[in-house]
Amino acid sequence: MRLKRTCYCAELSKKNTQEKVVLAGWVESIRDHGSLIFIDLRDRSGIVQLVFDYQRSSSFFNQAEKLRPEYVLAVSGEVLMRSPETVNPAVNSGEIEVVVEDMEVFNASEVPPFYIQDGINTDENLRLRYRYLDLRRPEMQHMLEMRHKSMMTARSYLDKHGFWEIETPVLTRSTPEGARDYLVPSRTVSGSFFALPQSPQLFKQLLMVSGVEKYFQITRCFRDEDLRADRQPEFTQVDLEMSFCSRKDVMKTVEGFIYSLFNEVLKKEIELPFPVISYTEAMERFGTDRPDNRFGMEIKDISKIALQSEFKVFRNVVKNGGVVKGLNASGAGNFSRKELDDLTSLVQSWGTGGLAWMIVTEEGFKSPIAKFFTSGHLEEIRKEMEGEPGDLLLFVGDEWENTLIILGKLRLHVAQLLEIIEEKDSFLWVIDFPLVSFDKEESRYYSNHHPFTAPLESDLSLLEQDPLKARSLAYDLVYNGIEVAGGSIRIHKRDIQEKIFALLGITDEEAQEKFGFLLTAFQYGAPPHGGIAVGFDRLLMLMAGRASIRDVIPFPKTATGTCLLTGAPASVSREQLEELHISLVQKEINEKEGEEQFPVSDNAES
Ligand code: AMO
Ligand code: AMP
Repeated sequence: MRLKRTCYCAELSKKNTQEKVVLAGWVESIRDHGSLIFIDLRDRSGIVQLVFDYQRSSSFFNQAEKLRPEYVLAVSGEVLMRSPETVNPAVNSGEIEVVVEDMEVFNASEVPPFYIQDGINTDENLRLRYRYLDLRRPEMQHMLEMRHKSMMTARSYLDKHGFWEIETPVLTRSTPEGARDYLVPSRTVSGSFFALPQSPQLFKQLLMVSGVEKYFQITRCFRDEDLRADRQPEFTQVDLEMSFCSRKDVMKTVEGFIYSLFNEVLKKEIELPFPVISYTEAMERFGTDRPDNRFGMEIKDISKIALQSEFKVFRNVVKNGGVVKGLNASGAGNFSRKELDDLTSLVQSWGTGGLAWMIVTEEGFKSPIAKFFTSGHLEEIRKEMEGEPGDLLLFVGDEWENTLIILGKLRLHVAQLLEIIEEKDSFLWVIDFPLVSFDKEESRYYSNHHPFTAPLESDLSLLEQDPLKARSLAYDLVYNGIEVAGGSIRIHKRDIQEKIFALLGITDEEAQEKFGFLLTAFQYGAPPHGGIAVGFDRLLMLMAGRASIRDVIPFPKTATGTCLLTGAPASVSREQLEELHISLVQKEINEKEGEEQFPVSDNAES
């Protein structure tokens, strides 16, 4: 390498005029004007315009004519002001250009499969297959930088607050997060498997027993579950655990971390503390345990009025212990009959009987069901729903949870239709989750978080009397309607742990088999402790205003959990399988052998 870079492209501005500089990077675009060739040179900072002037540097002008997009080179030259009419205000270095005096071409490039520029409308599969080119685009470079800065902020914030970064094993045993495990066969212990961690949950609790007091780790987690726009099979958590803490301490730590992230990475102020609401309130008001509180349209109850009406559907629902609730789609009173029918079909597809609607007009109610209500009851409904002329009131009658879940989804759907969701950063904590739920099909209780989550002290007695009413010391952080962190205060006493296992139907043997090492550790002076994990990719996705988690992960997997770049997962040789004491079912081997090694048509969308 003859020429050694002296600065980055976007660092240059008019204050550098007349300076001699050496730049290195990729050819972004070429404009050939005969005896003048203009080239935009790109490095990770941005672009600068190079000028090859035949009059000044004929020696390598011929070489410059042969340059093509994505060739890699270094140039030396002088920074000069551009003439006013050629100034490009869109880029940092738009007022200047570099007149090239020397050039070293390091490498040629094939014609790339898509344009290396922002805002391209290219099939995501192609972008993922050539991810190294995709990442060369400025918006992706910006994402990588933001990711890096966010990690640095996490590290320095947590270090400043006394947390130690400690690594935990990746080859380990199953962890209790509830997804399917990725398994790794052992060569040395025939027939045995490691599980990749769904989180460092058990190890971080062991570290509390070890007296670490404050642990953190920026860690990779692995979960074999159905993927969505905000889920990846391997993802990153900023994971932490602390001893002698209350849930307030944990929540405050996370708030401080998010505050510094916004402050240092986005240069934005956010308001602390974040609002806190209970699970029950979140369900009642928003129909979900992760409310998007960037807009109102909260759920209201009209069960009492419904019971007194002549509308049989509603009366029967309430008589049978259900509820009738609704929301005010303010300003949607002009929805057409077809739009209302579409909403009805939509809620029916979510699993309820139907959707009742009332349009508030100056003259009264327009609604197929208004005739079943007295004018007094209609007025009560209008008041409860805060209905004004032009509003559309939507009602669902069903059992409590289903009604709320459906209205919660409808609330989001209608808000998107009406485009009323403000662009802002809105956080809130949800606390006091029910400790357990009941699975009717399997006829058993299961933990809503994981089996080490502590119940509220005041709800301990409910564990035997009415377990579904017992609340847990778990907390979730919600950002614009997406869960970005979850954690809890843990059980550190054996008797309570045993009670919970009994409730969940986990026998002593099972508990020993799965978590024996943790239970044993707890017998040697386990301090009270708790923690949380922040879903780092989700957080960045929202901070960057993106709709897909894949946009903030350098090398993401597709919706079917494959890597289009490397072709993983891939088949392995028979010898490798034999070493691992594994034999495949014959049919699968035949299928694999017939398969192309790099699947092309995998769909990245979800
Ligand atoms: P939890 O399972 O709630 O808690 O995970 C914490 C956070 O991780 C993110 N997350 C994911 N992000 C991307 N892809 C996924 N597949 C995925 N799954 C989860 C979410 C979630 O809020 N050990 C506990 C934490 C604790 O109790 O301390 C745990 O892992 O943003
Ligand atoms: P029906 O009497 O079944 O024709 O229903 C009359 C109206 O009530 C229709 O608009 C239905 O979509 C609506 N409806 C039916 N069942 C429910 C329900 N469980 N909750 C809300 N609306 C319903």
